[in-house]
Amino acid sequence: MKKTHEYFENYLKFLEKHSLYPTIYTVDGVSSSPEVMVKGKKYLSFSSNNYLGIAGNEEIKKATIEGIEQFGVGSGSTRLLSGTLDIQLKLEQALSRFTERDDAITFSSGYLANVGVIRMLVDPFPYFTLYNEEPGVIISDELNHASIIDGCRLAKSERVRYAHNDVAHLEKILKEYKNKRKLILTDGVFSMDGDLAPLKEIAELAKQYDAIVMVDDAHGMGVLGPKGRGTAHHLGVGKDIDVIMGSFTKAFGSIGGFVVTDQKVADYLRITTRSYIFSDPIIPGVVAGLLKAVEIIENGEDLRQKVLQNAVQLRSGLEEMGFTVLGKETSIIPLFIGSEKKAMKFSTALFEKGILAPCIRRPAVAEGKERIRFSVMATHTKEQIDTLLSICRDLGKAVKII
Ligand SMILES: Cc1ncc(COP(=O)(O)O)c(C=O)c1O
Repeated sequence: MKKTHEYFENYLKFLEKHSLYPTIYTVDGVSSSPEVMVKGKKYLSFSSNNYLGIAGNEEIKKATIEGIEQFGVGSGSTRLLSGTLDIQLKLEQALSRFTERDDAITFSSGYLANVGVIRMLVDPFPYFTLYNEEPGVIISDELNHASIIDGCRLAKSERVRYAHNDVAHLEKILKEYKNKRKLILTDGVFSMDGDLAPLKEIAELAKQYDAIVMVDDAHGMGVLGPKGRGTAHHLGVGKDIDVIMGSFTKAFGSIGGFVVTDQKVADYLRITTRSYIFSDPIIPGVVAGLLKAVEIIENGEDLRQKVLQNAVQLRSGLEEMGFTVLGKETSIIPLFIGSEKKAMKFSTALFEKGILAPCIRRPAVAEGKERIRFSVMATHTKEQIDTLLSICRDLGKAVKII
């Protein structure tokens, strides 16, 4: 065996030994609905980010199939090389109208949007030199998503973390770096904590200290705010955030990502962002389905009400039983456990009782911050949530966390 293979094997053995190798279930059929099948057994799923329950929507499926019939299954090349399709522009126009911003740029994933855009907002222009500018500083919430962290790693600018949602700490850092170009990065809704960033305060600080703000709203877009326009609009600062990123893998029930911003910033990003220039776009058939999804979301007040009502039922039910539940207002309900052993035990027992919900532990959260991450959809029924609550009550007592 090659030495390198031995290296991988040893790591795999280590992960197995410490129960760190994640279990990935093979789901038969659909994985984004409240009831899913695993090895022929029915499970109630509280693990999908298909918040509005539209991943299997008939109108979206029809639009996607028609799009595939019209355009085929590939884009052919990147948009800069083989040209942009009218339908790609239509989706970007729909997104800018939806979010009330000048322009939108789509990417084949939200991860790629973050990985590409972040450095372009703060690093010196990578291709020509006009100003001899120095690298800037990225000031990032300590609990930001992995794709933000990876986007920061690609940047030449310095990176500084501020304590989660701590605006006083953020201001202290902004003061320290007052003579540098500054980019503040935060999730709108934190994916593992289910809480919201204080975007109003962050936008005010950004104005005061002349910093750019970018918000990753993968989990807020479509769910929060008037017409589902996202966390920034929900908090009344939809136009004060310089760049808002969204993902189509959550409320939109599909695949892809985007940023919305002002015209000049969009013009700049479109010709500089490497994950846009050097990677093919979302395939046109899926774009056709996404156009329909935007329309459904804009008119989806009933879906938003239902998912948030489901979230309240689950959150308040767990709290009344004495569990520690993190976050608020969102469709992510993390049941905090704070011990890897107990969290694993709880999660395995949930699975045995027919519930799918991920146990969140290293590397997604720090040791000692383990939790079960429940996410609800508009398509869950009150009875399904009651079932989960009653199972949690029994398990909470068995594992001695209530
Ligand atoms: C907060 C956050 N940002 C970005 C992403 C990446 O989005 P995508 O799935 O579109 O790559 C995710 C997905 O898990 C996320 O939770």
